[in-house]
Amino acid sequence: MMSLQLLALLAAATLIAVVSGTVEETSLKIIDALSHVSYEEWSPVFIATNDRIRGEVLPSTLFIPNSSVNMDGDRQKVVAYHIVSERLEFDDLLLKSSHSRLPTLLTGSSILVTNNSASGFSIDGVLIVEPDVYVDSFMAIHRIAYPLDFTTYGSGESEA
Ligand SMILES: *[C@@H]1O[C@H](CO)[C@@H](O)[C@H](O)[C@H]1NC(C)=O
Ligand SMILES: *[C@@H]1O[C@H](CO)[C@@H](O)[C@H](O)[C@H]1NC(C)=O
Repeated sequence: MMSLQLLALLAAATLIAVVSGTVEETSLKIIDALSHVSYEEWSPVFIATNDRIRGEVLPSTLFIPNSSVNMDGDRQKVVAYHIVSERLEFDDLLLKSSHSRLPTLLTGSSILVTNNSASGFSIDGVLIVEPDVYVDSFMAIHRIAYPLDFTTYGSGESEA
């Protein structure tokens, strides 16, 4: 009797664990975690949060501004706009044509490739200053010169 109840309890607990471990949940956890720390801390916090042990891993690319300035405006939106929902190491980025767009976690907003040359690769007019800061089989991290501005570049439907 006791063990049956225990089994039912365990089954329920397992179900909850699976439901709360979706890729969407991971995305929200990442956005929340990064919105509470400075740009300098983004790399370790991103890697620690997008972890198999915590839930389903989000294949993704993070662009970290090389800036100590505080995040402006809606921090969650700023974070979401710096994450591409696809793993793109620098070699993958170089295959993107100029004026193509990279989908971000900010609904309806994408990043514009403004220069696709290896020496001057830029997105939304911002230079990638340190490609492949971190790369594994799920994610890639690149450092950019300063923060991206989704209000200027985020929604250019016609340029896709
Ligand atoms: C990041 O910014 C600092 C301070 O402005 C600068 O000294 C450093 O060279 C920059 N790093 C890169 C990779 O551009
Ligand atoms: C892209 O960057 C390279 C290297 O800085 C530069 O020579 C080239 O003119 C740039 N292309 C465009 C379209 O701006």
